[in-house]
Amino acid sequence: MTQKRRVLTGITTSGTPHLGNYVGAIRPAIAASLRADVESFFFLADYHALVKCDDPARVQQSTLEIAASWLACGLDPHKVFFYRQSDIPEIPELTWMLTCVTAKGLLNRAHAYKAAVDQNTAAQTDEDAGINAGLYMYPVLMAADILIFNAHEVPVGRDQVQHIEIARDIGQRFNHTYQSDYFVLPESRIEENVATLPGTDGRKMSKSYNNTIPLWLPAKDLKKAVLGIVTDSREPGQPKDPETSNIFAIYQAFASAEETAAMRRAFADGIGWGDAKQKLFERLDVELAEKRERYDALIRHPQDIEEQLHVGAGRARERTRAFIEKLRWAVGVRTLDTAGGLASMSSATKEVVAEAAPPQVKRYREKDGKFYFKLTSAVGELLLQSRGFDSPQESGRVVDTLIEAGDDAAVVSAAIRNALPPGESVDEHAVRPALARLKADRMGEG
Ligand code: TRP
Repeated sequence: MTQKRRVLTGITTSGTPHLGNYVGAIRPAIAASLRADVESFFFLADYHALVKCDDPARVQQSTLEIAASWLACGLDPHKVFFYRQSDIPEIPELTWMLTCVTAKGLLNRAHAYKAAVDQNTAAQTDEDAGINAGLYMYPVLMAADILIFNAHEVPVGRDQVQHIEIARDIGQRFNHTYQSDYFVLPESRIEENVATLPGTDGRKMSKSYNNTIPLWLPAKDLKKAVLGIVTDSREPGQPKDPETSNIFAIYQAFASAEETAAMRRAFADGIGWGDAKQKLFERLDVELAEKRERYDALIRHPQDIEEQLHVGAGRARERTRAFIEKLRWAVGVRTLDTAGGLASMSSATKEVVAEAAPPQVKRYREKDGKFYFKLTSAVGELLLQSRGFDSPQESGRVVDTLIEAGDDAAVVSAAIRNALPPGESVDEHAVRPALARLKADRMGEG
């Protein structure tokens, strides 16, 4: 089976979902998650929310609303990984490991931090006035979100592209520092054919412009909000230009090609703004009414959502726990009793250990007067116990033959047989890489 591509998306839990979020993120992401060749990760970035929001009730409420929105829109939590960032303690743990390989200068250049500094400079105040270190560290936390699952792809808006580049940069630095491909380097994917929705004032719909239409308004409030969208002063009967109309742009984002073509004709025929808004409201309501019912039901049962997130975190942590163990070992945060620690080590960690440290050959003399050696893994696992030799020279020669045996499986097998007591055997799959490593190290030193 070929490896599935891992696609990961985070949503900061500091606001109320609006039509722009639905069209720009929720709808395309759920559609993409249905593909059989991808593994999708959706998470609620509540630690990111703390950077710009210090109102605990708002963070909680937003987490609830965003979780309910994704579920109401058809996200299948059994098919995708759906979890809350703060339920995965390996994420902040990785954040620290990454922090320590991140160049400070890289973070100085991050757009969001730089913009805040520029504002202070323009206002002739101290350049870091009012800036918390969370804003500064934001890209590292985001890198940890992505790298902890070794995501290949991150669908984002243009404003987030630099963050993905920073994540690549940090991942690469870590791989280089610790000499192995621990992390996949993620790529951003900008959804070209996803509409950016205009808000009620014609600028991009965004919380920061205060021009949003919340996604789950009750029908009559949704209608009121649509009636409030700014239009020009053209009278009914006058032809109208669909290309410059917010009403048309929003309609198009929800309607089929035929419906859109019909609306285009209606614009040319001079449909009144009141009628156009009524049609837009009706189209929105068709798309949202059923989902809204599901949303309202979910919101009334937060314990059900909590349960879904709990299950999601459990599934996600099956991955992150094993991976963080490997990473801890990689950086040297590890047990002092390496031999004793072996029993509890996952196979992923054993792999890194093998990569990070060479196996060892120990030569010694026994009470029977003979000369022995044993080959152990870096953490003291016994790989091969030799027979007894009459002289240290002979034992040394057999060790050399083993290490020099190289890649030819038959030669290696013969050398192993020659080292073992007659009739005994070992797991050659475990021994071979150890010998190859010893040989490589020898050649490196020579
Ligand atoms: N910074 C993203 C935003 O504001 C949210 C986010 C946090 C995210 N972690 C992520 C997005 C990881 C993608 C991947 O939109």
